[in-house]
Amino acid sequence: QLDSSTFAIRPRLSLYSTITSTNELAREAAAECNETGLVILAEQQTEGRGRRGRKWVSPLGRNIYLSVVWGFEGGVQVIEGLSLAVGVAVRRALVNCGVDALAFKWPNDLLWENKKLGGILLEVLGDPAGFCQVVVGVGLNLNMTTSSGGSIDQPWADISQISSTPISRNQLSVSLVKELFDLLVNYQQRGFGAYRDEWKKNDAFDGKGVTLSMLNKSLQGIARGVDDRGALLIEIDGALQSFSGGEISMRGS
Ligand code: BTN
Repeated sequence: QLDSSTFAIRPRLSLYSTITSTNELAREAAAECNETGLVILAEQQTEGRGRRGRKWVSPLGRNIYLSVVWGFEGGVQVIEGLSLAVGVAVRRALVNCGVDALAFKWPNDLLWENKKLGGILLEVLGDPAGFCQVVVGVGLNLNMTTSSGGSIDQPWADISQISSTPISRNQLSVSLVKELFDLLVNYQQRGFGAYRDEWKKNDAFDGKGVTLSMLNKSLQGIARGVDDRGALLIEIDGALQSFSGGEISMRGS
């Protein structure tokens, strides 16, 4: 059983060529001991995973596949909204490299012109009410091959389509790690409230008609951003309702 008595930030980076999944390796490491500050990067993933059991297409040497492990005291309620805040950090990292184009789709899709450019996958280990470790996984398409892109099951984009000058993967990786550390060091104190305005400013759906699909029903309304905890706000028949949880998906209607 892990506890926060071993809590310390130990920044270190492991870079791999081909592995199953950076999230998988990060999970395995975190299961052994407190790994706050461990960053795993890979050139290629053979079993890259996305949300809802989807595959994350991860060809060799072209994109960014990165995971960071971080410990939080106080259980899963402390990390409410964290995946949205990670989106803000990823956006900042791209802006630092001259790409000011990313939009957000709740809860954690990173879009360009309504096509998926990146994704975030958070996995939590440990005590849901006490000390837990979060694996923050980020995948960013920089320069997807046409053949790999062909196996992606949704409209996708990569940074080479946006930027006229090539973006250095090394430079972007450094910027990402910096922004993610800035976020993670402060998140326990600040919470999502500190990131909400920036998220809302770049919300791809704000004010648009959307359909929400849940386990056994679907609802239509107008997207009205997110609240201070990162829950989705939808106006339905003139009243604002909030939605959170992993079993909801949203699309434009
Ligand atoms: C999604 O949008 O469905 C989330 C995709 C997350 C992909 C990244 S790539 C690095 C890390 N390792 C994984 O296996 N998945 C995440």
